[in-house]
Amino acid sequence: MVTTARPQEKVKISQTKLLINNEWVDSVSGKRFETINPATGEVICDVAEADAADVEKAVTAARKAFNSGDWPKMSARKRGELLYKLADLIEQNKEELAFLETLDNGKPIGESMTIDLPFAIACYRYYAGWADKIQGKTIPVDGPQFCYTRHEPVGVVGQIIPWNFPLVMQAWKLGPALAAGNTVILKTAEQTPLSALRIGELILEAGFPPGVVNILSGYGPTAGAAISHHMDIDKVAFTGSTEVGHLIMEAAAKSNLKRVTLELGGKSPNIVFADADFDAAIDGVHLGLFFNQGQCCNAGSRVFVEESCYDEFVQKCAEKAQQRRVGDPFDQQTQQGPQVDDVQFEKVMSYIESGINEGAQVLCGGKRVGDRGYFIEPTVFADVQDHMKIAREEIFGPVMSIIKFKDVEEVIQRGNDTMYGLAAGIWTKDLSKAHKVAHGLRAGTVWINTYHAFDVAAPFGGFKQSGIGRELGEYGLQQYTEIKTVNIRL
Ligand code: NAI
Ligand code: MG
Repeated sequence: MVTTARPQEKVKISQTKLLINNEWVDSVSGKRFETINPATGEVICDVAEADAADVEKAVTAARKAFNSGDWPKMSARKRGELLYKLADLIEQNKEELAFLETLDNGKPIGESMTIDLPFAIACYRYYAGWADKIQGKTIPVDGPQFCYTRHEPVGVVGQIIPWNFPLVMQAWKLGPALAAGNTVILKTAEQTPLSALRIGELILEAGFPPGVVNILSGYGPTAGAAISHHMDIDKVAFTGSTEVGHLIMEAAAKSNLKRVTLELGGKSPNIVFADADFDAAIDGVHLGLFFNQGQCCNAGSRVFVEESCYDEFVQKCAEKAQQRRVGDPFDQQTQQGPQVDDVQFEKVMSYIESGINEGAQVLCGGKRVGDRGYFIEPTVFADVQDHMKIAREEIFGPVMSIIKFKDVEEVIQRGNDTMYGLAAGIWTKDLSKAHKVAHGLRAGTVWINTYHAFDVAAPFGGFKQSGIGRELGEYGLQQYTEIKTVNIRL
């Protein structure tokens, strides 16, 4: 057992191996890799590193569990009970898991406790409730025939998740997959393997049969690619960059046409009309971008502000950003922790430099905070032009780009001028205008007078290159079933 120093003393890292067939094992290669505390840059511990050979073992276990054994024999209701049990166990270990998440990812402990953990727990409970309500239809076909459909599990599912919300992403993936009766090989992000391993222990404690959930720590080009190319994996669900989303789909096409769902990047417009509740809009735009260190696929990263309120709005946005408390993620008062690693830190800093070079106006921020860890000042750019890199590419950091607009038609057209289509925000008191813009924007989720308003029951996913398929809610569940038609001649 590894115990870390300082406030993180609460965190005991009890598991660093791979979970395959309900056993904790070393990787076939014996290799391990380090995970870093982004607040200090120090190594927390090392974990077993999966590659293709371990994926092979996990697929064999998952296939066996899917075809025979207790899982396919288990009633749907019992599957639901296991998921409820898992949710209860996570709740009982909530504080420990929140500390682990903050240690490995850098997100403020207050947010791990009040957002990530409750959301993950709610997600398992929501899908636990679905398990015995997944039902087909009887279809009135012509002739003396009786026709019905069954919604069967897809099979062995590979799930590849990112580092920005490790526990939440795990819940979004495992919840619907297990409720529908699939078996899973889950690969966590190399930056944040720890909380998923602790969940693996709770999965064993809950009593899931061997091979149903296999959890691998490892890198994308090795373990991730082995999953997406595997001939005996029936579906891959991926969340991460659009670039890797293309690779996953290509691998699926070149291997066995496995089903693919993708939740990818975004450059979401957050649109403020002059008739909006001004203070609410300031707060919504601020959180819409800065929440989770700006590391959200759905971040409202293009803030469009109507001309007549532009100057005042921009000034207030900068004031609010300057008040944001950046620092030790284990301090309850902290609102913004470090970026997840040096790679993300450098990427964000280079976008800031590009914004300056392209002539956007820096109202605040732009620099590193402190001399260790990966902290960046909340940064606000004004007078951003549509063609600038900071207005077109996903920054995934605490960098706001504010853009001026004149009217409704124009802002719909400019809002849609992107390869992405994940989310959008609209701030106005005029309901007709709100609906008109909501219908005009090509995005998977539109928030009106709110932002980041997620619910486990409401589907989430992207138009265009922001992804394929939906997660959460009933729509998310559908992505984990195959429809079988049974026709009986009477
Ligand atoms: P990434 O897309 O490389 O990583 C996400 C997951 O995919 C990780 O588990 C990684 O190991 C895996 N992966 C990487 N290459 C793979 C491959 N060839 N085959 C299969 N799996 C692979 O994203 P990364 O490098 O962590 O971040 C780069 C950018 O991606 C970020 O700056 C951000 O713009 C975006 N991103 C978007 C996320 C979202 O929520 N949509 C989450 C994380 C990153
Ligand atoms: Mg880490």
